[in-house]
Amino acid sequence: MPTFMTAQLNVIPQPDQWNVGKSQFVLTEQTVIAANRAAKGEADFLAQWLFEACGKTFQVVDMSAMPAENFIALSASKKGSDLTEESLKSLPDSLRKRALQADRSRYRMNITPKGILINAEFDEGVFYGIQTIRQLLPVEAEQKKLKLPLQLSTMLIQDGAKFTHRGLLLDCCRHFMSVEFIKNYIDVLAYYKMNVLHWHLTEDQGWRIQIDKYPLLTEVGAWRTEKDGTKYGGFYTKDQIKEIVAYAASRHITVIPEIELPGHSSAAIAAYPALSCTQESIHVENEWGVFKDIYCAGDEYTFEFLENVLSEVCELFPSPYIHIGGDEAPKFRWEQCEKCQRRLRQEKLKDEAELQTYFIERIATFLQSKGKRIIGWDEILEGGIPADAMIQSWRGMEGGEQAAKAGHNVIMSPTSHCYFDYGLSSTDMEEVYNFNPIPASLSIAESSHIRGGECNMWTEHVPQETVDSKVFPRLLALSEVLWTYPEQRNYSAFNKRVEGHYARLRALGISPGFPKVPVKMTATRKENALQVELKPAFEQVEVTFSLAPMGNRPGDKILKYTGPILLDRPTLLMAEATLSDMRYTEPMMWWFEPHMAMDDSLQLFYEPSPWYTGGGAKALVDGRLGSNNFRDGAWQAVQGKDMDALIDLGTSTEIHELETRWFMYGNAWIFLPKSVEYFVSENGKDWKSAGRVEGKTDEKAPGEFFEPFVLKRINEKARYVKMIATNHGVCPEWHDAPGEPSWLFCDEIIVR
Ligand code: ACM
Ligand code: ZN
Repeated sequence: MPTFMTAQLNVIPQPDQWNVGKSQFVLTEQTVIAANRAAKGEADFLAQWLFEACGKTFQVVDMSAMPAENFIALSASKKGSDLTEESLKSLPDSLRKRALQADRSRYRMNITPKGILINAEFDEGVFYGIQTIRQLLPVEAEQKKLKLPLQLSTMLIQDGAKFTHRGLLLDCCRHFMSVEFIKNYIDVLAYYKMNVLHWHLTEDQGWRIQIDKYPLLTEVGAWRTEKDGTKYGGFYTKDQIKEIVAYAASRHITVIPEIELPGHSSAAIAAYPALSCTQESIHVENEWGVFKDIYCAGDEYTFEFLENVLSEVCELFPSPYIHIGGDEAPKFRWEQCEKCQRRLRQEKLKDEAELQTYFIERIATFLQSKGKRIIGWDEILEGGIPADAMIQSWRGMEGGEQAAKAGHNVIMSPTSHCYFDYGLSSTDMEEVYNFNPIPASLSIAESSHIRGGECNMWTEHVPQETVDSKVFPRLLALSEVLWTYPEQRNYSAFNKRVEGHYARLRALGISPGFPKVPVKMTATRKENALQVELKPAFEQVEVTFSLAPMGNRPGDKILKYTGPILLDRPTLLMAEATLSDMRYTEPMMWWFEPHMAMDDSLQLFYEPSPWYTGGGAKALVDGRLGSNNFRDGAWQAVQGKDMDALIDLGTSTEIHELETRWFMYGNAWIFLPKSVEYFVSENGKDWKSAGRVEGKTDEKAPGEFFEPFVLKRINEKARYVKMIATNHGVCPEWHDAPGEPSWLFCDEIIVR
C-alpha cells in the first residue's frame, strides 16, 4: 500500500473522503478520454470543456479502445435519464420508489500515474467527478488559458451528496433575467454540484412563460407599467424554454417551473379578468407585496384555464415535479364570492383554508394524470395536502418538520438561512454555512423525507445586474451544506477555500459580492455625543464616508475613514466599502440623533420579534434611527401587541419634547399605532400623562415610510418617562389580508 497523506483540497463542496498520493499524473494534449456507453455524454462534456480551456481537441474513444496510459477513463453503470417512471412501471411500488430516489451523485475517482479513472453507478456521478477535476486544475483552465502538460497529484476520492435536491430559486418575474444569464447560472450551479433550478415564472408583477392557448398572458401579463410610466417586462418563448431545459439536462440539472396558484396571480388576472372572483379588470402589479385578487375557486373557468396552462407547462418540462406555489393567498375575495361560497357548501368544506386544499388537490390530481407530482410552499399544509405532494418550507423549518412527520418529502428553504434577497446583515455566508436542513426533532426515518434545500433569490429589489453579488459567494455555502455531513464542516477552512474560488467565479462570468457585511458599525455614548466606529471586516477593505445634517441628502464630501467619528447633532452617515474591484452594493446609511435618554436604563413591557430586535434590549435608546427600510436593523417590532416602554433617566431632568418614530407599510401589515401616550414621573410610581399623539397618515396610504409622533412643549421635570403605543389592531377589511394581526415598528424614544 502506498502511503497517502491528507491535505486540504480547494474543492467546493468538499468531497467525502480523499487521500493524496506522492506521485503524479501528467495531463497532456495527447491524453485520451475513454468512456463506456452510459458515460459517453460526460466524455463529450469533458472534451468540450478541455477544448475551451486550452484550445486543443482531445480524442474521445470507447472504453474498449482505452490506451494503457495517459487516459481519463469514465465509466457509469447506468444513465439516470433511462430511469423514468415509465421505464420502471413493471417494478413493485417500493422498488420503483427506491430506484427513482436513488442517490445518483456518488463517484469514485482515482488519479494514478497512468491516468484518471472515474467510476460511478450513474452518469451523474461521473459528471460530478469531472467537476472535481475542473476544481483541482488551476484557475487558468476556467480562464481559457490552460497550459499543458500539467501535473496532478495522485489521489483517491470517494464522494457523493448527502441530499438529492440541491437547488437555487430564480425569481425571473419581479426582475427579468436573460436566457444567456440563466444558462450561465446553470453552468455555475453544475460546477458546484447543485442539481435543481427552481424557475419562478408567474407572479403578480409579471407572467413570463409563453402559453399558446392564452396569448394575452404574455401580451398583457408580461408587462407592467412602473410608477414612472415606463414599461417593464419580458417573457420566455417556448423555444427559449426548451433550450434552457436541454442545457440544464446535459448538466444534470432539473428545471422545476413554478406556476403560482391560487395567489400571486395578478398578472394572469390582468390578462384574463374572468379568472378572479370579481371579474373586474386589474393591472399587472407595480408594487411589491401580497394582493387580494386571486384565482376564483368557485368558477370552473379557473380550472379549465389552469389545466390548459399546466398541460403546456408539462410538455415543456420533463421534471417529475411541478411547483404550484400556494403561498400568501389571502382568502378575502373567496369569503365574499358567491361562486366560492357555493363551492364551499357543495363540497362540504369547513372554511376557506379547506377551499384552498380543494383547489390544490384538484390541480394535483390533474397533474397526476400527466405523470407529475406537485411541490408547494408550506402554506398548502393548512387544510391538508395530497399524499405525494412535496413541501417547500420557507416560514421557518416547522412546516417542513410537520410535513416530514406526516410522511411527505420536504425541501428546506427557511427565511432564516436561505433567503438570498435578504442583505448580508441578516444572512451572511457563515449563517448559510451553519444551516442544518434536518430539524433535530425528526427520527432517522422521518429525516429521510428531507430531500434537500434551496436558496431563494427573490428579486423585488434585485435587478439582473446585482443578482450575482447576492447569490455569490453564499451559494457556495449552501452547496456544501447540501453535499456534506454537518460533522465534516468547518467554517474557517471553508472560508479559506472560498477565497480561492473568487478568481474561479470571475472566470465563470460571475461578479461575486462580499461574504459578510464589510464594515461593522458601532455607536457608543460619549458624554452628550455619539462615537461611531466603522471597523473594516477584511484587511484590505477601504472605507470612505460622508456626513450630512439630518433630513439632507448624503454629503458630497467623501472622507477616508481612519478612526472614530464623534457626532453631537442629528446626522446622516453614509459609508462605502471597496475591496479591489468589489463594491458593497447594500446601502450603508445610518441616521443618528444624540439625545438625553441615550443608553439610559430601559424596560420593555413586550417581547420584541426575534426578526426585528432593532439591535437589542437598548435599541429604543441607542441614538440610532431607522430608515425607509424596515429591515435595516434599526427598527424594533411586535406583531398584534402594544408597545409599552419605560425609561429611567437616572436623575430628575427638565423634559421639553418627546418623540417616537413609527413605520408604515400596509402591504407588509405594518401600521402606525392608533395613538402614543407619553407619561412622566419623578418617583416611578406616580405618573402624569404628558399628552397623547395620534398619527396623521391615513391607514390606506400606499408605500413604505415612517412618521414621527412628537409631543412638544412638555416642560416637566421628571426622572422617568413612559410610552404606551396602542396597536392599530388587525388589518382592516379593505386590506389584502383583513383580520391578520398588524405589526408595530418603532426605532427610538427620543428625549429632548
Ligand atoms: C415566499 O417567500 N413567499 C415563498
Ligand atoms: Zn370566487
